[in-house]
Amino acid sequence: MALWSGRFNEGVDAFTQRFGASLPVDKALYAQDIAGSCAHAAMLGAQKIISEADALDIQEALADIKSDIEQGAFTFDINDEDIHMAVESELTRRIGQAGARLHTGRSRNDQVATDTRLFAKKRAVDLMEANLCLREALLACASEHFDVILPGYTHMQHAQPVLFSHHMLAYVWMLTRDFTRLQAAYDAADASPLGAAALAGTTYPLDRAQTAATLGFASVIPNSLDAVSDRDFLLDLLYACSVSAIHLSRLCEELILWSTSEFGFITLSDSFSTGSSIMPQKKNPDFAELIRGKSGRVVGDLMALLMTMKSLPLAYNKDLQEDKQGAIDAAQTLEDSYVCMRGMISTMEIHPDAMLEQASKGHLGATDVADYLAKRGLPFRQAHEVVGHLVKLCEERGCNLDDLTLKDFQNESPLFEADVVRSLDLAAITRARTTYGGTGHEAVLVQLDEATSATCEDRKTLAELMKSVV
Ligand code: ARG
Repeated sequence: MALWSGRFNEGVDAFTQRFGASLPVDKALYAQDIAGSCAHAAMLGAQKIISEADALDIQEALADIKSDIEQGAFTFDINDEDIHMAVESELTRRIGQAGARLHTGRSRNDQVATDTRLFAKKRAVDLMEANLCLREALLACASEHFDVILPGYTHMQHAQPVLFSHHMLAYVWMLTRDFTRLQAAYDAADASPLGAAALAGTTYPLDRAQTAATLGFASVIPNSLDAVSDRDFLLDLLYACSVSAIHLSRLCEELILWSTSEFGFITLSDSFSTGSSIMPQKKNPDFAELIRGKSGRVVGDLMALLMTMKSLPLAYNKDLQEDKQGAIDAAQTLEDSYVCMRGMISTMEIHPDAMLEQASKGHLGATDVADYLAKRGLPFRQAHEVVGHLVKLCEERGCNLDDLTLKDFQNESPLFEADVVRSLDLAAITRARTTYGGTGHEAVLVQLDEATSATCEDRKTLAELMKSVV
């Protein structure tokens, strides 16, 4: 019989029992559930709501149950609707009356909210760790290939040359913001609902501050209705996961393009590629494609919970049971994607010659030639027009700007002198972009430094957060 069977004449139909159960999903929260119950029992004992002896028996038996679960010696029974019932029934089987006292002044509504918040904090921390490892791999790749030049694109057309390290650092910054979003999700989860009971608080003299402190929560949620029905923290986690998964999908797209024979900018290592069952020559960037594809699932998980929450009246409704599956899935998917991307980045081969060859096509020096004229007094709009004519000339002749003679240049403007060739050298063009945040070598060195410091700072933040997760 279920733990709530008192007012019922019949048990639940076998199908509805299965349909209504969340155990297959929420058993992943066993550690958080047991930690929450231990904290509650200790507080009940300290407040003399139950005897100290019962409180100790409960905590000891819960520790045994935890180790049985971890050793695979615990059989989950689907007749226990969820992890809370599974643990409590087993507790009562083991220690009888004392176990049956654990749920005093508590409801599964504040219990599940507590477990889920602890779980969200733990997963946010795991994701921050994986995020940092990936950033470190990207930073190492950027430093190793610091000087390599590739075409920078707008509209997928060659635009201006940029340093490969600058390109990689753009992703490091995206991931740095993702870390901040994960931290915000951690903070959103970091308040204790325990003691809100079913929805209205209880008549027992609970010490909510004590259980919050024991569980490592930074604060206590001030409204019992909100405490049991708020799932913003999961939406925040799902949003953080979604944005980061989208960032990874952008990087994947570039890795996939770069590894085509048309680009040939990189070769992914064999350990991060697959072959074809029919075409012997194939080497496919499957894992980059898979990460790109999985981003859709992560965003789907966010959408699903947003829709579940829409129009939900206060306070707890069973709809809320749908909250965990997507959050667990999104966190796992992103964590795996981070790990896979890290492996791919640290093992891929870079082909600087192929990048440089492409950078020398498509008149990437055109802006700098226009700047050359503008710096000699011609208004930039007119300079743009002059260089436009030169590019047209190149297109007609099927050549590049640096194939033109000084005479060709001077036919368009008398301001041109022999030193214009300097505006056509890719390394010089790149180096000249000295603006803070630009692709100039000096500026990228500053950036590399800043991105590395941000990583170190985030490592420190993470070490602090790790101290208070269950
Ligand atoms: N399994 C439930 C969930 O995940 C636990 C809370 C159930 N509470 C209730 N009153 N039915 O949301």
